[in-house]
Amino acid sequence: MSLQIPDDLITTLAAAERVVVLTGAGISAESGVPTFREAQTGLWAQYDPRELATPQAFARNPRLVWEWYAWRRKLIQQAKPNLAHHALVDLEQALPTFLLVTQNIDGFHWLAGSRDMIELHGNIARTRCYEEGHVVSWWEETDELPPRCPHCGGPLRPDVVWFGEGISEQALRSAFDAAAACDLFISVGTSAMVQPAAGLPLLAKRMGARVLEINPAQTALSVIADWSLQDKASNLLPQLVRRLDFPTNAIDGAEQ
Ligand code: APR
Repeated sequence: MSLQIPDDLITTLAAAERVVVLTGAGISAESGVPTFREAQTGLWAQYDPRELATPQAFARNPRLVWEWYAWRRKLIQQAKPNLAHHALVDLEQALPTFLLVTQNIDGFHWLAGSRDMIELHGNIARTRCYEEGHVVSWWEETDELPPRCPHCGGPLRPDVVWFGEGISEQALRSAFDAAAACDLFISVGTSAMVQPAAGLPLLAKRMGARVLEINPAQTALSVIADWSLQDKASNLLPQLVRRLDFPTNAIDGAEQ
């Protein structure tokens, strides 16, 4: 049975001038991409992030890290955006001011058609030089892993933000400015545990915005959210768009 969407939420969304959406791994779960912190299926239940997702791990064992990301990149390439990603494209097109901030590195929001967006943690499809930071789209394939930067010969790494690394100042400022100025903040599919992203809904709330959370599980954010809807994003977001009576890009029965 699908969850009822409260009428006052629909009224708030329809009247909202500025909306910010934060997404996390849960929005891509139904595309078949594993989340991080779920007890049985999350990546961090099976792998140690300190061995795979830190600059120290790369310095210790670059090949292991490169190969782990190559495995994840392949998983992502075999998957595609689901109805929740498409519903956010509809929201972006229908609302006067909209910003999507994602912690995901899978690129699915862009593939679905979202354009007003910030990828806080980078994008796994991009590669850059570990030494000098050049983003590179080509390199010579040899037996050596990771491959070498065609400019300086340094080892290549995924263009993602590892634990202990900083997020681009400009991306952070845009995300925090938008959160401070929005009238509705929507958090979708994130455990809301990783900073600085987890601070965005708290700032929005403090500055007077209403907060909607969409997540089948309770999180640290649930208690302060004005609406905490416990269901899958691919059920709720398309329902939300339908209730608003906006034009929609998603084709009925499209990929889940
Ligand atoms: N729809 C909505 N939410 C879902 C769904 C779904 N179908 N399935 C799972 N979830 C929720 C889970 O209940 C969980 O709260 O998605 C959340 C995923 O949480 P995490 O695994 O912690 O992922 P995330 O919040 O994106 O992690 C943040 O941590 O390891 C880092 O860099 C990584 O960007 C990541 C960051």
